[in-house]
Amino acid sequence: MRSHLLNDTTAEQYRRSVTEGVERVAAKLGATRRPFTGVTVDALAPRIERIDLDRPLHDTTAVLDELEEVYLRDAIYFHHPRYLAHLNCPVVIPAVLGEAVLSAVNSSLDTWDQSAGGTLIERRLIDWTAARIGLGENADGVFTSGGTQSNLQALLLAREEAKTDTLAKLRVFASEVSHFSVKKSAKLLGLGQDAVVPIPVDHDKRMQTVALARELERCRKDGLVPMAVVATAGTTDFGSIDPLPEIAELCAQYGTWLHVDAAYGCGLLASLKYRDRIDGIERADSVTVDYHKSFFQPVSSSAVLVRDASTLRHATYHAEYLNPRRMVTERIPNQVDKSLQTTRRFDALKLWMTLRVMGADGIGELFDQVCDLASDGWRMLAADPRFDVVVEPTLSTLVFRHIPAAVTDPAEIDRANLYARKALFASGDAVVAGTKVGGRHYLKFTLLNPETTTADIAAVLDLIAGHAEQYLGDSLDRAS
Ligand SMILES: Cc1ncc(COP(=O)(O)O)c(C=O)c1O
Repeated sequence: MRSHLLNDTTAEQYRRSVTEGVERVAAKLGATRRPFTGVTVDALAPRIERIDLDRPLHDTTAVLDELEEVYLRDAIYFHHPRYLAHLNCPVVIPAVLGEAVLSAVNSSLDTWDQSAGGTLIERRLIDWTAARIGLGENADGVFTSGGTQSNLQALLLAREEAKTDTLAKLRVFASEVSHFSVKKSAKLLGLGQDAVVPIPVDHDKRMQTVALARELERCRKDGLVPMAVVATAGTTDFGSIDPLPEIAELCAQYGTWLHVDAAYGCGLLASLKYRDRIDGIERADSVTVDYHKSFFQPVSSSAVLVRDASTLRHATYHAEYLNPRRMVTERIPNQVDKSLQTTRRFDALKLWMTLRVMGADGIGELFDQVCDLASDGWRMLAADPRFDVVVEPTLSTLVFRHIPAAVTDPAEIDRANLYARKALFASGDAVVAGTKVGGRHYLKFTLLNPETTTADIAAVLDLIAGHAEQYLGDSLDRAS
């Protein structure tokens, strides 16, 4: 069994095994014609259940053959131009190479003595990101597992900085279309049930600052403590960016922590054309960035950045076995001092490889292309009488629904759209997402693939209309 350990004696086997795996994936990419096969849970589950995990195959080729059956054949492929559903991007090759290197070397970024150069690389990337945001000389941060954890950590710091000894008094203000991880964080942080105050959005799905000002004032009058405002720079559904400069002004006025959730909108930090859309982000106390959403990085790759490095002390715990306090005076850089995690992947390497091979402009160019594609898609939808489209995109999502010519019952329109999404998924021809707007069911394209064309968008819209019409035809038949 020692022959399976990766070390000096097994380097050749490592090369062969990994190359075999890479060859399988490369062949798969070449042969994939649709983003999904449409496999059902009922068809796939028994294939996985059947496998006896106590009887290994002892042969990499056989295991890869099996993997084809249980995973590769029916996986959802984000690189396919007709995968248009969630905030998953196709990944860039330098990052995939980084992924292969980081798991083979297997550094853990918690302490210097488990990582060395990895620690310094991560720190450089944090500084680079903070500089792109404009957070100033005292900024710092740490890589995290994703936007959810970044938001949680930011709100933990905000909670600790808030001037109160009663958690029940703390209030967090976030737009009604902010990410659910804000509410989840509030719960995890022990805040009260009503701690997150939803702020209405305007027609463009941006936080209404007049309403925010009103709620902040009400909070003060009620003797409560405005712990944080979470401004979203790129909402999950609409890609809308809250008015950051105005929100920053209000936060300054009320002494409130400003967290900017730029999990999605962080791609603009590299943009060559649209960077100004997130102007004001430099005034944040903390920022969430998900490189795995808009920097074309494999899952996971995210970071939380802070304006004032000293606030990260709220996540510090000194354990004698790992990062004793004396190491701080010895100036040993232990990233665990800043992180919610202990053992932690060297995800930063993927971004490092990307910046060193492609450069930030390369990423920005790709992100600009998907923003432009979304604008083209919006024009197509706005001109197409078969569809109702919600807002003109600031980033790269389109929220719309099919409006059948002869149907006026909104519930029936809901059902037709729900059916169309399901039928499309089952066919595997394209994958789209769904959401609710004003209580009604809508469909969503999240465009993160520069290989997607307007022809793809047109074709998927035709497929959606076809499925919706099919549903309505069948429903008429059922009624008669
Ligand atoms: C605006 C926003 N914030 C946070 C998150 C959570 O990010 P993650 O899925 O990486 O935890 C998302 C995910 O879609 C998001 O859209």
